[in-house]
Amino acid sequence: MSTAWDAARYQARHSYVFAYGESLIDMLKPQAGERILDLGCGSGQLTAKIAESGAQVMGIDQSPEMVAEARRNFPLLKFDVADAANFKLDTKVDAVFSNAVLHWVKDADGVAESVAGALRSGGRFVVEMGGKGNTQAVIDAIRDIAGPVGTPWYFPSVGEYTSLLERHGFEIAVATLFDRPTRVEGEDGLEEWLSMFAGSMLETKELRREVADRLRSKMFREGGWVLDYRRLRVITKCNH
Ligand code: BEZ
Repeated sequence: MSTAWDAARYQARHSYVFAYGESLIDMLKPQAGERILDLGCGSGQLTAKIAESGAQVMGIDQSPEMVAEARRNFPLLKFDVADAANFKLDTKVDAVFSNAVLHWVKDADGVAESVAGALRSGGRFVVEMGGKGNTQAVIDAIRDIAGPVGTPWYFPSVGEYTSLLERHGFEIAVATLFDRPTRVEGEDGLEEWLSMFAGSMLETKELRREVADRLRSKMFREGGWVLDYRRLRVITKCNH
C-alpha cells in the first residue's frame, strides 16, 4: 500500500477488513510449527489470529504507521516494513497469506515473483483481494462527478490473475470471484470510506458528499452503506 493511512482510524472505522479475513484463515489451515508470512498485515489482527494456531508468523506491510501499530498491538509477534512487490525473506516459509491488500499493488508480477521467492517448494499462497467489478458502482459515481480519473486499484479477473500466477510457477488449486456486499456503518460511512481509500480520486469534502448523495438511494440501508465488494480468492501451490 502506498497510501499513508491513519492506523487508529483504520481500526476504529474499518475493522470489517480484518473481520472478513478470518474466513480466509480457515482456507489457509495454519498448522503448529509452520512458518507463515502475512503479506500486507496492516495493524496485525489477522497475523495474531494465525499465530493462535501455533504457527510461527511474521507480518510485513509497506506502511511504517501500520507496522508501528501492529507492534504496539501484538508486541510478541514480528512485524517489518517491506514492499509487497519487492521483498526478500532470509528463510523460506511454508505459506504466504494475504487479505485485502494486493489490490493496492499494481505491480502484480513483482508480487508474484517476491511470493514465489519467499515460499519453499510446495508451499502455498492464499490470497483474497478485490476482483474484477469490485466497487464498480462507487467508481462509476466518482467518475460521473470527478471526470475520467484513474483508480489506485488493481481488480483482476480470475483468468487474468491465475494466468499471471501460473507464469510465475504457481499451480492453482482454488480460484473464485464472488459478490460480498460490505457494510460500512454510519450516516457518514461512505464519505469516510472515500476519504480513507479514494482520496486520490476525490480531493474535496464537497465531491465526496456529491458521490454519497448520488449513491444514497442505492446503497444506504438502516444506518449504514452497503458497498458492492467483489472478492477474488485464490489458493495455490508453488512448484519450484
Ligand atoms: C477492497 O477491500 O475491496 C477495497 C478497499 C478499499 C478500496 C477499494 C477496495
